[in-house]
Amino acid sequence: TSGPLRDTFGRVATDLRVSVTDRCTLRCAYCMPAEGLDWLPSESVMTTAEFIRVLRIAVADLGIRTIRFTGGEPLLRRDLEDIIAAVASLPQGPEIAMTTNGLGLTRRAAGLVEAGLTRINVSLDTVDPSRFAEITRRDRLPDVLAGLDAARRAGLYPIKVNAVVPDRRDLAGLVDLARFCLDAGYQLRIIEQMPLDAGHRWDRSRMVTATEILDVLSAHLRLLPDTVPRGGAPAETFLVDGHADARGAPARIGVIASVTRPFCGDCDRTRLTADGALRNCLFADAETSLMPVLRGRRDGELEVDRRIAQVWRENTWAKRAGHAVGTAGFRQPDRPMSAIGG
Ligand code: GTP
Ligand code: 5AD
Ligand code: SF4
Repeated sequence: TSGPLRDTFGRVATDLRVSVTDRCTLRCAYCMPAEGLDWLPSESVMTTAEFIRVLRIAVADLGIRTIRFTGGEPLLRRDLEDIIAAVASLPQGPEIAMTTNGLGLTRRAAGLVEAGLTRINVSLDTVDPSRFAEITRRDRLPDVLAGLDAARRAGLYPIKVNAVVPDRRDLAGLVDLARFCLDAGYQLRIIEQMPLDAGHRWDRSRMVTATEILDVLSAHLRLLPDTVPRGGAPAETFLVDGHADARGAPARIGVIASVTRPFCGDCDRTRLTADGALRNCLFADAETSLMPVLRGRRDGELEVDRRIAQVWRENTWAKRAGHAVGTAGFRQPDRPMSAIGG
């Protein structure tokens, strides 16, 4: 009953994104309203033991090689270190990454690395304090910058910075953000905003495109084609002439152009939400909950594990060719970004 997560297009999912909570410490305007959202009730969120069990099956039986923890904000979970340590101790030795807004990292970066975290991506849209406070509705830029620094000191490498461009007037600020990242040795990736906001206000004509982003960057930096193949990665990366990263390798900068240059053809992802739903795509319109199996009448431990693996294989098999964002047939998923995990 073991075997990889394959879909009908021959793609194999080896990368699992796990949303461990839908809650967040920021309120980015492109993600959620100021008052927050109707959070998942705590009894429907997976427990530490449930996450550990399901992730073991993903790695041991389903060929998952990279696990990325996301949220909402994953650091809101006190048990994140325990979950990471359990996954890190599996004999298959998966890569363990996290995407975070950086708040709380000053206290936890070292412990996370000790638990087995290998890689980190930090969301940061601007280095302008007042614009940061406007976008995230929290005046906490210094905490995020301190968190990034703590991640670096804890030995995490590479450190990637994710920036969404909420508005065309933010294009100019990207140059400051790029300079900050180049100076600190972080890899900046600038993201086209996707229609995943809770308010359903995304508008294609207002979205800042990868072309616009690259035009601005190229006016200030000499970008050269990357030498490393992209594989299934969402980011198109460039080498930045004359700059090196934290370990002296050529500095990189990238764009994630999900809308204007979709990369679905090489997708190697599957997703698990905090309430135990499998999603075969960020934009999937159907999901499969593991909860009935996980919390149902026990047929015995092994039988439950076998059912979970089977349900997961079926969910991945049904994955569509692509997401068609921006076209007439596209329907935004019911779950917002913060409850899917990006
Ligand atoms: P790396 O392994 O470091 O490349 O991480 P990543 O870029 O896959 O993950 P991260 O959480 O940093 O996400 C960066 C951006 O890519 C976010 O806006 C995600 O929503 C987006 N992204 C991640 N996976 C997918 C995907 O499968 N499809 C699309 N369209 N966007 C994705
Ligand atoms: N489109 C693209 N990226 C988004 N993110 C949050 N909302 C969106 C959106 N609508 C980013 C966050 C984080 C990553 C997981 O996704 O900034 O870095
Ligand atoms: Fe939180 Fe990320 Fe949404 Fe910002 S984009 S509110 S950091 S979940």
